[in-house]
Amino acid sequence: MNLPATALLPDPCDLLAALCKAGGDPLRLKVLRALANDSFGVLELAQIFATGQSGMSHHLKVLAQAGLVATRREGNAIFYRRSLPQGALHAALLEEVEALALEPAEQARVAAVHARRAEASREFFARMAASFQAQQDLIASLGQYRDSLLALLDARSFASDATAIEVGPGDGAFLPELARRFAQVTALDNSPAMLELARQRCTREALGNVELKLADALNETPIEADCVVLNMVLHHFAAPADAIKQLARLVKPGGSLLITELCSHNQSWAREACGDLWLGFEQDDLARWADAAGLAPGESLYIGLKNGFQIQLRHFARPDSRSIHR
Ligand SMILES: C[S@@+](CC[C@H](N)C(=O)[O-])C[C@H]1O[C@@H](n2cnc3c(N)ncnc32)[C@H](O)[C@@H]1O
Repeated sequence: MNLPATALLPDPCDLLAALCKAGGDPLRLKVLRALANDSFGVLELAQIFATGQSGMSHHLKVLAQAGLVATRREGNAIFYRRSLPQGALHAALLEEVEALALEPAEQARVAAVHARRAEASREFFARMAASFQAQQDLIASLGQYRDSLLALLDARSFASDATAIEVGPGDGAFLPELARRFAQVTALDNSPAMLELARQRCTREALGNVELKLADALNETPIEADCVVLNMVLHHFAAPADAIKQLARLVKPGGSLLITELCSHNQSWAREACGDLWLGFEQDDLARWADAAGLAPGESLYIGLKNGFQIQLRHFARPDSRSIHR
């Protein structure tokens, strides 16, 4: 017997009840708050809220049944993130949740989770500088996206006195291209070993307008440029949504943020082999995080590689304050 199609759809009344039930618990509301701009595994959330793992799993199940959170497999781990709002009550709930503040101890434990992720990334680059190029080539090498990236960059027609920042230049392979196009280039990398590789390249290629700085690009870096570039770096950041907010501050009004990144993938070996903290990103997530950072979406290019990975090249613009009319 064929069931009518409507029999397969969840009852709207059940959906609403699930939403109300999920929202009716202080801890679940705090979990939604913590997930506003981040994604965490169940163990991380249990640590942040100092609660048992099985209790946290139960809360996440209730939130998932209500459509408030979605899961994403990252290798062997499952990460939870907020779902996009479906309906007015869901949107209003998230808006109210946004106004909640986590307690200082909870904020400190979020920072500890981020610090552990960042430390894992720093350790990787300290260990792997010698075999950097080979590690990079396992997934995507600059040669595979250089022309597309230059096309995106050159379409911006920067002025002859424009400046650029490259975040995480690695061995500096893209610096000669930036040095040719910009009056002054600043390269920020938090790994002394990687910066040394970049320095050797700058010396070899006599790049007189490139300044190399040992710096964490996400901490106070009081510089701004017309163009900020980051190639294959975002998936090494502990909290990518926050990172985009920090990086947007380096972009002058009217300037550009160019991000080259992997699209979401399930090749968990990349964590060990390449030190990746995140297995690429959904295109929509990057757009949402950029929007939250006050950036406007520009052109995007996508490149499929023979090894199955896909690269996204994204341009985001920081609105020129003079062009905002209220
Ligand atoms: C995978 S490599 C990418 C290198 C180069 N952009 C490329 O495409 O070949 C990531 C680089 O980002 C740097 N990095 C990671 N976190 C950083 C941070 N918070 N601030 C500055 N550099 C960072 C690493 O040290 C490393 O050089």
